Amino acid sequence: MSTTMQKIGIEKVKHSKIDQVDFDNLSFGSVFTDHMLVCDYKDGAWETPKITPYQPITLDPSSKIFHYGQSIFEGMKAYKDTENKVWLFRPLDNFKRLNISAKRMAIPEIPEEYFMEGLKALVEVDKNWIPQKDGSSLYIRPFVFASGKGFHASPANEYKFLICLAPSGSYFSGKVKVLIEETYSRSANGGVGYAKAGGNYAGQFYPTQLAAEKGYSQVIWTDDNNHEYIEEAGAMNIFVRINDTLITGPTSDRILDGITRKSILQIAEDEGIATEVRKITVTEVVEAAKNGSLKEMFGAGTAAVISPIATFGFRDVDYDLPELKDSFATRLKKRITDIQFNRAEDPFGWRLEV
Ligand SMILES: Cc1ncc(COP(=O)(O)O)c(C=O)c1O
Repeated sequence: MSTTMQKIGIEKVKHSKIDQVDFDNLSFGSVFTDHMLVCDYKDGAWETPKITPYQPITLDPSSKIFHYGQSIFEGMKAYKDTENKVWLFRPLDNFKRLNISAKRMAIPEIPEEYFMEGLKALVEVDKNWIPQKDGSSLYIRPFVFASGKGFHASPANEYKFLICLAPSGSYFSGKVKVLIEETYSRSANGGVGYAKAGGNYAGQFYPTQLAAEKGYSQVIWTDDNNHEYIEEAGAMNIFVRINDTLITGPTSDRILDGITRKSILQIAEDEGIATEVRKITVTEVVEAAKNGSLKEMFGAGTAAVISPIATFGFRDVDYDLPELKDSFATRLKKRITDIQFNRAEDPFGWRLEV
């Protein structure tokens, strides 16, 4: 979509709150920078975005977001290298995915220029907030929701597109224990699993709470049909290593087309690691765990990058994965983060300087 964008207006804060932040002890996504980007959709068009001080927003109680959950979001990061240069990782892919989600949720698509120029301008304004500690970065949350009024169950006529920034430490560290889920489903054929729609995540909370009561930190989602195939790990794509082959499921209506997932596949191929993109059955994973050919399982996503799974539970039995010295997870995480933080060549052209 081409637009003739006017200059993005910037209203800066009078007093930064950056001095109140303990950058050595950041959790994930709970401290926000001084500014945010706001863009309104009214009278059939997106208005030029503006950057304002970070602040609460006022909405009518009948706004459709509250009743029909018409909302979508993205998750990405900005990284600072040792020379204070600021980098984004494959931002155009987040933009494209936001509009794929928008289309599915009957939300008007965002013009590329508004997203890309708005994002760069916001990150530039708040660049002092990008943490430099190893493992930390600036988490970026673009989101769009129905602000238009009315109880009628139909798409709203007004929307808001915002971008907020959160300096963040590691998502979680260490290995995790996960449960293969056979009762609840995250997504279904013909559904919205491939979109980053807010409700997808709300629907995951209850089954994840039930798993937590049994001592598991995450759920491995299986297909809604027969719960025969493993599909995603919590809000991450899942990889399984059987012997020396790295396998991940194909993207579909039910599986999000993760940017980390596709980057890992490309890096693995570049590293000479054998990869397969195919359906993975629960049975083969359990069998591989029993006969020792299951070497690794990990989740992949922007927040945690790669999150190794230490144990998975299936039908009341726990299966432990071996502790490997030179795991694919460690190798691949190093390669991808070295590219993100500008510590290594970027042969794939993924980095974008702000
Ligand atoms: C359901 C789901 N799967 C996978 C991912 C990983 O996607 P990405 O690597 O683009 O962050 C995410 C996070 O965005 C997600 O919400």
